[in-house]
Amino acid sequence: MGSKPLEYNQHSLTGEITVPGDKSISHRSVMFGAIAEGDTTVTGFLLGDDCLNTVACFRQLGVDIQQTEDKLVIHGKGWSGLKEPKEVLDVGNSGTTIRLLMGLLAGRESHSTIIGDESIGKRPMTRVTKPLTEMGAQIDGRQNGEYTPLSIRGGQIKGITYHPSVASAQVKSSILLAGLQAEGRTTVIEPEKSRDHTERMIRQFGGIVEEDGLSVSVKGGQTLKGTTIHVPGDISSAAFFLVAGAIVPNSSIILKNVGLNPTRTGIIDVLKEMGADMTIEMKSDENNFEPVGDITIKTSNLKGMTIGGDLIPRLIDEIPVIALLASQAEGQTIIRDAQELKVKETNRIDTVVNELSKLGVAIKATEDGMVIQGNNRLTGGTVSSHGDHRIGMMLAVAALICENEVFLQEKESISVSYPQFFNDLQQLIATD
Ligand code: S3P
Repeated sequence: MGSKPLEYNQHSLTGEITVPGDKSISHRSVMFGAIAEGDTTVTGFLLGDDCLNTVACFRQLGVDIQQTEDKLVIHGKGWSGLKEPKEVLDVGNSGTTIRLLMGLLAGRESHSTIIGDESIGKRPMTRVTKPLTEMGAQIDGRQNGEYTPLSIRGGQIKGITYHPSVASAQVKSSILLAGLQAEGRTTVIEPEKSRDHTERMIRQFGGIVEEDGLSVSVKGGQTLKGTTIHVPGDISSAAFFLVAGAIVPNSSIILKNVGLNPTRTGIIDVLKEMGADMTIEMKSDENNFEPVGDITIKTSNLKGMTIGGDLIPRLIDEIPVIALLASQAEGQTIIRDAQELKVKETNRIDTVVNELSKLGVAIKATEDGMVIQGNNRLTGGTVSSHGDHRIGMMLAVAALICENEVFLQEKESISVSYPQFFNDLQQLIATD
């Protein structure tokens, strides 16, 4: 672990890769497949640790899920097919699993206990336990329901109108999953729009969801029908190679089949505004489920910018690698309105600033983001993912432009969302 340096610095990147399936959509495909009636077939499922934890939790809830490589067949039996689990549900590192699972369990006449890893134990849960309790679920956890272990006893719940204080798709989705089982109507009104995979998924499974600006509503008592889901490539995983292609000299990368849902494409907007040499070819979106396209990116002359406001939820997971991108731009980049970074898998303001500083980047933390000076020459040294997959991948990309050796500690965390990350990277180096 970290005893050998990463061996690929100072190579250009060329060729074509297909990034793994979208994490958010993979989680939801299992959850909706489980509560639908009939079989759901999922292709391109992300075999990362987080999504495999979702599969394990739903098997514990009595759902029959068959897996052959990245294809799943989920034998849904409707809401009543979910049984009371005999053992504790363990979500590992996955915030999406725990928060959405709670919404789903809020409407079931059963008791469950949910735990996760050390990082999950530090992540705030009141943002979901509060609205779900308001709907009628009984939830408790460490520090008044803020932290795991959490216990939940669901049952008859009623619809509410809720205004979350943060734009969070996990919060919105949790409430909507409860709302589908509640008496009456449930509405979530967000401060800014967060990713809308749950809304699209409900429709794909034959359900009804109403959207009006920042307001999303569902009626309770809906029955969903099994369907087919083709999971597009994860733009959050593609982001590492988009940035690598833009900052590593003499590079040209094609990323195939990337999900381009407009609620997720903030990274594309940033690359464009910074001046990246990038083209996108959209593929036809037959079932109107999730838009998909191929992206070509080449080494680019970049300029700094300010990133904030309603752009933040559209690129929240990409901020670590955007900080690296900004370090290679001309001029200053300011990232603001991004306090949510503090409650991700790690405090991503601290981990990004500390680890990139070690490699020679001029970067400073602010209360709600960071300020990065451009045109940095990266040195090298020992850095750590701190158990955070996206920090690990960002640092591995940084190593590509470091002048000296880079030792990356805790790189195994990358398997949370991109198990074949180093193979894909190697492939782009090999075609050099
Ligand atoms: C996710 C929502 C986002 C994101 C996470 C996945 C989802 O979290 O950071 O990686 O699948 O709903 P928040 O809802 O906390 O912003």
